[in-house]
Amino acid sequence: MRNDIDRILITREQIADRIAELGTTLTKEFDALGPEEEIVILPILTGSIIFVADLIRELAHKVRLDVVTVSSYPGKAMTSQGASIIGEMPQRIEGRHILVVDDILDSGTTISLIRRELLAAGAKSVRACVLLRKKREAAMATECEHVGFDIPDEFVVGYGLDYDHYYRNFPEIGILKPEAI
Ligand code: IMP
Ligand code: MG
Repeated sequence: MRNDIDRILITREQIADRIAELGTTLTKEFDALGPEEEIVILPILTGSIIFVADLIRELAHKVRLDVVTVSSYPGKAMTSQGASIIGEMPQRIEGRHILVVDDILDSGTTISLIRRELLAAGAKSVRACVLLRKKREAAMATECEHVGFDIPDEFVVGYGLDYDHYYRNFPEIGILKPEAI
């Protein structure tokens, strides 16, 4: 697997340090909501599994974890083919504060779609937290409250992000060699 990676953009240590910072920021934000408020962490499957696992362990609050599946990059696609929700939206959203967690903000269609659906379902507030955001106009223009790293507009893998379902278990964020694609 390492042989397919051309170069590392973000190391394990950099990811861990940044997630600790995000945890501190989010804990303060949740504190400000008050003790009676219900918080739901909503990772978007599948790319966010590793990020959310590390992030929620930095949170001091009692939170509910729910999941939603969105597909936008079927198979070997390397650009968004338009986001769609697979299966059900989570239940019991009304009156709750929702933190949407995703691996990467690219075209912005995924986060925008989920935010719309959650507000339509009566969420009290919706905030988004992504590990990565590509430095491209569409991503920068998308409403997103928390961003781990801004990265160049390139296709990346590792730490949950896949190419054709592979490389999710690569522990750092890297760029594939052209011959691996
Ligand atoms: P968006 O809807 O275009 O913002 O895309 C978000 C989704 O596309 C992410 O949740 C990822 O699953 C996928 N994605 C976007 N860019 C990349 C990438 O560089 N590598 C792997 N997956 C990506
Ligand atoms: Mg995804």
